[in-house]
Amino acid sequence: MTNHMNEDVKKAITSRRSVRKYLSAEISKDIIEDILNVSARAPSGTNIQPWNVHVLLGNTKSKVCKAASDAFFDPKIEKKNERIHYMENFREPYLARRRKVGWDLYQLLDIKKGDYEKTKSFHVQNFNFFDAPVGLIFTIEKDLGWMSWLDYGMFIQNICIASRAYGLDTCPQAAWGQMHNVISPIIDIDDNHIIHCGMSLGYEDKNAEVNKLKTVREELNIFTKFYE
Ligand SMILES: Cc1cc2nc3c(=O)[nH]c(=O)nc-3n(C[C@H](O)[C@H](O)[C@H](O)COP(=O)(O)O)c2cc1C
Repeated sequence: MTNHMNEDVKKAITSRRSVRKYLSAEISKDIIEDILNVSARAPSGTNIQPWNVHVLLGNTKSKVCKAASDAFFDPKIEKKNERIHYMENFREPYLARRRKVGWDLYQLLDIKKGDYEKTKSFHVQNFNFFDAPVGLIFTIEKDLGWMSWLDYGMFIQNICIASRAYGLDTCPQAAWGQMHNVISPIIDIDDNHIIHCGMSLGYEDKNAEVNKLKTVREELNIFTKFYE
């Protein structure tokens, strides 16, 4: 029995941040496989393990990134998520939290309100996996319910944390959800699957301004009630 949190575990969790600019340094396949194997120890309701991972490297990653970036700027291509990602109409307290991270990010990048060109040129970086050497695309079968999406989140969080054990960084990316039709002809996504989200994986570019973002969290008493 111990009354303090193991420092390594705590550090792996608290040092995780969404990193939005990476070094080009490659990551070996062994490391990627180790991270995914460890992450697959995530719990899932009745152990159904609803995750499917597409690991994009080298040429395939370049092809996928090119198709998605072109589609992002092409008004003729419909970019639509099959399910609501967050909320139809944001309300408090979610609206304020969402706005804060957006403003903080744009301040770092010197993007002024209404500067759509600069905003778009930042957003399109999602489709280049922020220059990370590894891009992950997560798909899920369409008829799996919301509990399976919850299981999936645990798997994805495990990837973020296990990556820290190698000094690697990540950024989960819902942005990829709108690119299903664009990238499924390039990679092997079954017809009955949809893209859950994507993820950048690599070593942080510590000189990049965008990586100086520090996000905040609510105090414990805002989201927790104790009953005795
Ligand atoms: C499911 C999910 C989807 C996300 N999608 C994106 C995305 O498309 N693009 C992006 O830049 N960040 C994305 N993020 C990162 C969030 O903005 C980030 O987790 C949040 O602002 C908290 O910051 P932190 O991860 O640095 O602690 C996503 C995070 C999650 C969990």
